[in-house]
Amino acid sequence: MKKALALSMAAAMALSLAACTSTSSSTAASDSSAAGTSEAASTASTEGGTVANKDKPLIWFNRQPSNSTTGALDMEALSFNDNTYYVGFDANQGAELQGKMIADYIAAHADTIDKNGDGVIGYVLAIGDIGHNDSIARTRGVRSALGTAVEGDNGIVSDPVGTNADGSSTLVQDGTLEVNGKTFTVRELASQEMKNSAGATWDAGTASNAISAWASSLGDSIDIVVSNNDGMGMAMFNSWSQEAGVPTFGYDANADAVAAIADGYGGTISQHADVQAYLTLRLIRNALDGVDINTGISTADDAGNVLSDDVYYYDEASRSYYALNVAVTAENYTEFTDSTKTYEPVSAQLDATAHPEKTVWLDIYNAADNFLSATYQPLLEKYDDLLNLKVDYIGGDGQTEANITNRLGNPSQYDAFAINMVKTDNAASYTALLSQ
Ligand code: BGC
Repeated sequence: MKKALALSMAAAMALSLAACTSTSSSTAASDSSAAGTSEAASTASTEGGTVANKDKPLIWFNRQPSNSTTGALDMEALSFNDNTYYVGFDANQGAELQGKMIADYIAAHADTIDKNGDGVIGYVLAIGDIGHNDSIARTRGVRSALGTAVEGDNGIVSDPVGTNADGSSTLVQDGTLEVNGKTFTVRELASQEMKNSAGATWDAGTASNAISAWASSLGDSIDIVVSNNDGMGMAMFNSWSQEAGVPTFGYDANADAVAAIADGYGGTISQHADVQAYLTLRLIRNALDGVDINTGISTADDAGNVLSDDVYYYDEASRSYYALNVAVTAENYTEFTDSTKTYEPVSAQLDATAHPEKTVWLDIYNAADNFLSATYQPLLEKYDDLLNLKVDYIGGDGQTEANITNRLGNPSQYDAFAINMVKTDNAASYTALLSQ
């Protein structure tokens, strides 16, 4: 069973935007600001003292509380209290864009892409974390755009194939591509989860080792390298594909990857980290100010900050704010070179009298993760100044939740929490500490 790849219109981007909602739980946000009393001594800032930890704002970000096997959202965690939200990006829209970007590249380079001329366009795929919804979506998006996807019981199969040099894997199929009257086969030659021996996922070092192994076993049958993110993509580009002249595609629009487009990196996807980092802290600011939760988001705040609905939307059912993605290719990459620049429409400083300093505990699940450490955290650090939030950044080891939760020893010291879990199943490790 071969699936033809329609060249000119590879996977038209189907943005099913649940029209931007501006009316979410505005009722919920009033508890902490009303609570300032003399008992405030136990908090670093003035007003959080009488608020129970379980009632403080809690933002999940980057790893959506969900079952890592089925993908089902953990609604208990997502609605832990009235000021609990998730901030991420639209994984399906981004995945389609990534797939389309690669398919478009193949179409535009059809005359030269099949290096060994065997009629098979072979690609290898670096998978970040087989239990992470974003990683699963990206694997599916690439396979569907390239015609290599097969349907399983839970939708398109997203498991790694290991190696599939002869096309016999049942987890993928060979796709077919017609260009200028010539028919190519498209094959996923190899894919694996990039998890190191200590358990860290999305691991760049593992990807670098994998590409070396694949290059020696598959050699010039590799025509394209695809990665679920830029951290792994750049590791493969630097250790093999740049020199081999093989286009490599990632995700995240980290500054080093965007810069590498000038040197042959094929392209990447911006998940609008500048909008996500803002939302992560802005929701906290609003909840602590006791104002409508969408202040400075769907409606302008007193400094003029506001987001338009072409960069994010809110989904009430999942209590989630999702940024929208943009493809970054040779055509437009010069607009994306500074990945740590705040998003201009939400870059105005809040007045410190009207919005006094509050204290936030925030963790990054893996301090070594390229996207989170090189793009997301630097953005958070800029927005925390603009929003008058004093944030304690806790860097995890990417392997165990305890490494992070151990450093949430005194939640009473903070006004709010922003959490990036190691494993999406583990929300309760955090909420248990806040419920004590
Ligand atoms: C990013 C990856 C990152 C992961 C961590 C994803 O959204 O694209 O680069 O490693 O989040 O959870």
